[in-house]
Amino acid sequence: VVRRRPLAVGGPSAHDAIVNQLCARLGIDAPIIQSGMGGVAGPNLAADVSAAGGLGIVGALMVPPDVVREHIRHVRSCTDRPFGVNIWLHEELLPPRRPDELDQGLVGRVQDTLNAMRVDRGLPPASGPPGALPDLIGATIDMVIEERVPVFSAGLGIPSTELVRRFHDVGTTVMAMVVDVDDALEAVRRGVDVVVAQGAEAGGHRSVGSKPSRTDAEGLGAIVLLPAVRDAVGSDVPVVAAGGIADGRGIAAAIVLGADGVLLGTRFLATVESAADEGWKKAVMAHDRPTGLTDSFTGQWARTLRNEYAQRYDEAAPGTLPSLLQVSAAGDIFAAARERHDVEMMPMYAGQSARLIDELSPAGELVRQLTDDAERILGRSIR
Ligand SMILES: Cc1cc2nc3c(=O)[nH]c(=O)nc-3n(C[C@H](O)[C@H](O)[C@H](O)COP(=O)(O)O)c2cc1C
Repeated sequence: VVRRRPLAVGGPSAHDAIVNQLCARLGIDAPIIQSGMGGVAGPNLAADVSAAGGLGIVGALMVPPDVVREHIRHVRSCTDRPFGVNIWLHEELLPPRRPDELDQGLVGRVQDTLNAMRVDRGLPPASGPPGALPDLIGATIDMVIEERVPVFSAGLGIPSTELVRRFHDVGTTVMAMVVDVDDALEAVRRGVDVVVAQGAEAGGHRSVGSKPSRTDAEGLGAIVLLPAVRDAVGSDVPVVAAGGIADGRGIAAAIVLGADGVLLGTRFLATVESAADEGWKKAVMAHDRPTGLTDSFTGQWARTLRNEYAQRYDEAAPGTLPSLLQVSAAGDIFAAARERHDVEMMPMYAGQSARLIDELSPAGELVRQLTDDAERILGRSIR
């Protein structure tokens, strides 16, 4: 007789717990987390989500620490509920690579590719290395610790044991987003409190700390990754599902697959409070272009809505500059695109879940709606 191991699932049903362990750990009412999205998730969005009982996260990537501090204070002025701050811990940003050390042949090929697009958009051509990036991550972390922000959320790299300890010393809960079982286990070994398992469907960047090949960047879809991570970390570590979830059905499915809660990016991009360009929000809801992985916008693999920039850059295949120096090189093109609401030339990070999004919702109302729908489908409370 082969005796099967009982399947591990998350949420209250698994342990007959009275409260969801993720909600208890984070001090929130509903296990719904809004991703800290660079340039999209500002303090208004985060405050609205937190005030509605979810966890709002302020995106702090490449934002000067003083400005992030103002955002933190703004959230605190709107709500006394917990919230978080997100940054990347990518190795190429610790510290940022120097433009004068770049391969000049690569810089020339990148600029030639970008110049073809600049000419078509009436922008002056450029040559030579891009401007340097400010080295902000260490200072942002110090400020987040000083401010005793309730939750620190890391993308594109797992916080070190030492960093986790510094956050724990001031009572901050640490979340890290990973794409595979090995990284989930490493995060737990380092003392991370909440593991976010990011499936291949996810919008934005693949959450890895160094750049993989195109093939390795693909990763597992959430339907496989979630039970695998749950089995690996055991039932006591809160696991959050990210990628492909945009409605109550997705939340219910994630919980059945082993998650304690969900983290949504693309769905919160299409809200009234999100700071994304209106054309980008419309493109998410238009269902007329696919998403795909490209490194053409930042130098790191990200899922975006396909547009002319991504298509032309990927076809020319000149190679890309290290993390975010690619943004620095193409920054004039993206700035002009934002000014002109030209969706063909701006990065439009979005996940496969865009296919499920039809309307722009107010963020707080969305948190309540998603929770109610998931509970109706599951026939029980998820809080
Ligand atoms: C517009 C956008 C920006 C994002 N920016 C970040 C970021 O700055 N830091 C981060 O850790 N994750 C970021 N993500 C990824 C999310 O954390 C998350 O993995 C993803 O949105 C989940 O999949 P979904 O888009 O299908 O909900 C971003 C996602 C989107 C859509």
